[in-house]
Amino acid sequence: MLTIKGLNQFYGQSHTLWDLDMQVPKGQCTCLMGRNGVGKTTLLQCVMGLLHTQSGQIEYQGHNIASMAAEKRAPLGIGYVPQGRQIFPLLTVEENLRIGLPMRGDKAKQVPDFIFELFPVLKQMLARRGGDLSGGQQQQLAIGRALVINPKLLILDEPTEGIQPNVVAEIGDIIRRLNQEIGLTVLLVEQKLPFARKVADRFCILDRGRQVASGEMPSLDDALVKKYLTV
Ligand SMILES: Nc1ncnc2c1ncn2[C@@H]1O[C@H](COP(=O)(O)OP(=O)(O)O)[C@@H](O)[C@H]1O
Ligand SMILES: [Mg+2]
Repeated sequence: MLTIKGLNQFYGQSHTLWDLDMQVPKGQCTCLMGRNGVGKTTLLQCVMGLLHTQSGQIEYQGHNIASMAAEKRAPLGIGYVPQGRQIFPLLTVEENLRIGLPMRGDKAKQVPDFIFELFPVLKQMLARRGGDLSGGQQQQLAIGRALVINPKLLILDEPTEGIQPNVVAEIGDIIRRLNQEIGLTVLLVEQKLPFARKVADRFCILDRGRQVASGEMPSLDDALVKKYLTV
């Protein structure tokens, strides 16, 4: 579904992603892992077109989108839940959700019902301001907003960061349902190891801007965890 080949990215003079390769197979949930500062968010922002890349390919459904404008990528069916959620605190829940509507190909005027089936709390809180929601509710809103475009690929950057433990499990269940029941391909950045093991089929580990390991989740062994993931 998504294949990254030889990607290089710089912040000014600072070379951040190095000849990076990554595969996100269709229908699976792939977890991008690695310690703080290794380049996970940078890589996702390159995929979304929010950062310029120096060289390399980003193939989505067989087309290289590496130099395509950011606003053209979401309509291809790529939904993005950024790190820190980035909902609009002063807009209502409904307004936050409706922001994605113009990016749909079909000119739909209503937020699709399946979003409220997944997140009943959003329906109850349509008129509340985004900023008045709890952390877990805001995360549901951020995921709901990404789903408004009816994506085929859903990209989530640390969706459980700063979320209460009881809500973390709920978010894990939602991601699994989106993957298994609705058939979305998922690319997830996650630092919590038990969560990653439960939710994802595959892993891909970054270290200092390079891909250093990847495989099926059961093959993520203690040696890899110790070398690349524990602090
Ligand atoms: N806007 C920026 N300008 C310059 N350097 C940045 C910027 N954003 C991130 N970096 C640097 O790039 C590296 C990778 O950051 P990031 O992609 O956020 O890592 P991760 O998501 O894995 O924690 C870090 O060294 C970080 O300090
Ligand atoms: Mg990050």
